[in-house]
Amino acid sequence: MEKLNTNTIAYYMAEKELPFGEYIMNKTWKDREIDIKTYWEIHRKSLENFEEFWSSIAKELEWFKPWDTIVTADPAPPFYKWFVGGRLNLSYLAVDKHAKGWRKNKLALIWEGEPVDGAGKPLETRKLTYYDLYREVNRVAYMLKHKFGIRKGDRITIYLPMIPELPITMLAAWRIGAITSVVFSGFSADALAERIADAGARMLITADGFWRRGKVVRLKDIADQALEKAGVEKVVVYRRLGLDDVKMSPPRDHWWDDAMGDVPLNAYVEPEQVESEHPSYILYTSGTTGKPKGIVHDTGGWAVHVYATMKWVFDIKDTDVFWCTADIGWVTGHSYVVLGPTIVGATQVMYEGAPDYPQPDRWWSIIERYGVSVFYTSPTAIRMFMRYGEEWVRRHDLSSIRLMHSVGEPINPEAWRWAYKNLGREEVAFGSTWWMTETGGIVISHAPGFYLVPMKAGTNGPPLPGFEADVVDEEGRPVAPGVRGYLVIKRPWPGMLHGIWGDPDRYIKTYWSKFPGMFYAGDYAVKDGDGYIWVLGRADEVLKVAGHRLGTYELESALIEHPAVAEAAVIGIPDEVKGEAPIAYVVLKQGVQPGEALAKELRDHVRKTIGPIAEPAHIFFVTKLPKTRSGKIMRRLLRAVAMNAPLGDVTTLEDEASVEEAKKAYEELRAEIERK
Ligand code: WT7
Repeated sequence: MEKLNTNTIAYYMAEKELPFGEYIMNKTWKDREIDIKTYWEIHRKSLENFEEFWSSIAKELEWFKPWDTIVTADPAPPFYKWFVGGRLNLSYLAVDKHAKGWRKNKLALIWEGEPVDGAGKPLETRKLTYYDLYREVNRVAYMLKHKFGIRKGDRITIYLPMIPELPITMLAAWRIGAITSVVFSGFSADALAERIADAGARMLITADGFWRRGKVVRLKDIADQALEKAGVEKVVVYRRLGLDDVKMSPPRDHWWDDAMGDVPLNAYVEPEQVESEHPSYILYTSGTTGKPKGIVHDTGGWAVHVYATMKWVFDIKDTDVFWCTADIGWVTGHSYVVLGPTIVGATQVMYEGAPDYPQPDRWWSIIERYGVSVFYTSPTAIRMFMRYGEEWVRRHDLSSIRLMHSVGEPINPEAWRWAYKNLGREEVAFGSTWWMTETGGIVISHAPGFYLVPMKAGTNGPPLPGFEADVVDEEGRPVAPGVRGYLVIKRPWPGMLHGIWGDPDRYIKTYWSKFPGMFYAGDYAVKDGDGYIWVLGRADEVLKVAGHRLGTYELESALIEHPAVAEAAVIGIPDEVKGEAPIAYVVLKQGVQPGEALAKELRDHVRKTIGPIAEPAHIFFVTKLPKTRSGKIMRRLLRAVAMNAPLGDVTTLEDEASVEEAKKAYEELRAEIERK
C-alpha cells in the first residue's frame, strides 16, 4: 500500500507537497501548441462574451426552433435554463441528420461481444452504419410509442449490458421525449429497485443476460428481484444470450423480439420537438447521504456542451475511430458513447466485456483491429495494464492512436507516463479530463482540438473556454498556487445539471450553499503557477473506487442492514490499481463473534446490496468507533490512521481508546500485507 507514493490521493491525505512536474512539450502537435499566457487570453475573451460564445457554438447544431434567451435563472439562481424557447431533438441530431446526408453508409458503431474462439478471435461483432442506426432507433421508438404507449416525459429505466440495443433504446426514448434512467448492469437488485421507484418509471428494459469474464450474468433474474420491490407497468427483455429458462411474467413481461416482431422495417416516428430545457435523462449518483441522487439533465444545454467538447477535447474528424471505454451506465458513457460520437457523426467502437478477457491484450487487439485513433479511458484501467506489463501492449500495432484522454479519478504521474510511452509513443496529446455526473460534460482539460498548452504528467490543465472553474479557500476566495482548496464553477454552463429528481432543496443544499453563487463540486484541488488545475480527490464522504462514485454512507447503511452488525464506518484507502478501495470498521451486535467467515459474509452482503464494485477490501472488527461527543463518526481519524498521518485536532473525540483500537487493527493488516 505504501508503494503508492506518487498517487495524488495519498499526497493530499498525507498533507505532503505535490510535485507539479515538468512541461512535456509535444512532438506531433506543434502547430496546435500555444503558451499558457496566450491560452489565458483566449479563456478571458470567452468569458467576456460568455453568452455569445456559447450561442455561436449552439448555432452549429440544427434546431427546430431557435432559442429566445441564451441562459436565464428561472425562477431564481441556481435554477438555470439554457437556450430557452429553443426546440430540438437529440435522436434527430444523432441519426436523422447523418442518415439523410453523406454519412448514410458511414459506420456509426463497431461492436464486439466478449466471447472469443480458440485462437482468441472475437466470435461476435456487429457493425451498424448511420442508416442502420436510424432504422433501429425508429423501430424501437415505434415500439415504445405505439405498443406500450410511452409518452413525452415518461421515465424508462434501462438495465442493459454494453450491447448496441442500449444506445439504440436511449436514442429511441429521446426521440419521443421520454426520459431515460440508465442503471449500470453491475448494480444489484436493491440498487435497481431504489432507482426504479425514485424515478417512477413506467417501463423497464433489460436483457436475459450477458457475458462478463467468460461467465454468464443472468440479468433478468436480478431485475425480477428488483421488481418485487418496485413495480413497473411493462418489462421488455432483449435476448442477448438466448437463455431458455428465463422467467417471464405476463402480461407485464415481453420479449424484445416479440414486441418488435411486427414493427415495419421502415417504421418512422416523427421526432418530438422538445423544449431545450426538457429533461433527457436522470442518472443516479452517490452523495453523502444514503439515498442516491437522481441527477437531471436537460436537452439543449447538454447537447451543446457535449458537441463542443467532442470537437475541442477529442478533435474528432470523419476519419477517426473513437473509443470511449466507459460503460453507458455511468455519465461518461451517456455523454461520450451515446450522444457525443453520434452528434458529430463519428465512427466508434463499443465492447461488451472485461478488459483482460481472455487475456490482458484484449483492448490492444481491439485498437489494432479497428484502427482506433482517439482513445478515452480511465486511470484504473491504465494502472491495471501497467501491472500486466508492457509485453501485452507490444504484441499489437497501436500506431493508429493519435490522441488520448483519461477520466474518472486523478491520474498519478507514473500511470500517465506509462500510458504516454506505451500507448502514445511519447508523441500523442494526452490529458486528464475533469468533470462529473453533475457537469454533463468535460469542464477542465487540455483541448488539442482547439489549442494545446504544454502537458504535465498528472494535471487536468486549465478550464476549457466558456467555463469559469477555480480553486477557492474556505471563504470562497481564489487560492494562491500550491495551496489546496475546493474546486468550484463560478457561473452556469450549458451541460449543467437541472436539479435532483424530485428534490429541489437537496439540489441547492448540496451544490450551491457552501459557496453562495458558486457550484461546489466536492473535490479538493490545487492550482500550479500556470493556473493548471490538479484535482486531488473528493473533499466529502464520497469514494472513488475504480473511478466509480460510492458514498461511504451508502456502504455503511448496507453493512448495518446485516443482522450481525451494530455500527459501521467506511473509509477509502489508496489502492495501487483502483485509486481508492473501501475498508470498513465494524462493531458487532452483542454476542456475535467476529471471524474470517463473518468478514466474508459481510463483504458478500455489500456486493449483493450495492454491487460488486462496492465490496470492501478489508473488514476490521472493533469494539467502538471514534466519535465526537455528539455521536458523529470521525472518519477523518480513521483515514489518518490508515495513512499514517497526524491525527490533527482531537478535542471533540469522545474516547481515545477507539483510535488506538483502529490503529492496532490497521497495523495488523499492514504486517500481514508485508508478510505476503
Ligand atoms: C468525480 C465525479 C466524469 C465522468 C466520470 C466520473 C473525479 C473525474 C477526474 C479527473 C481527477 C476526476 C472527481 C469528480 N474525477 N474526472 N480527470 N481527475 N478527478 O463521474 O462518477 O460523477 O464522479 O470524479 O472526484 O468529482 P462521477
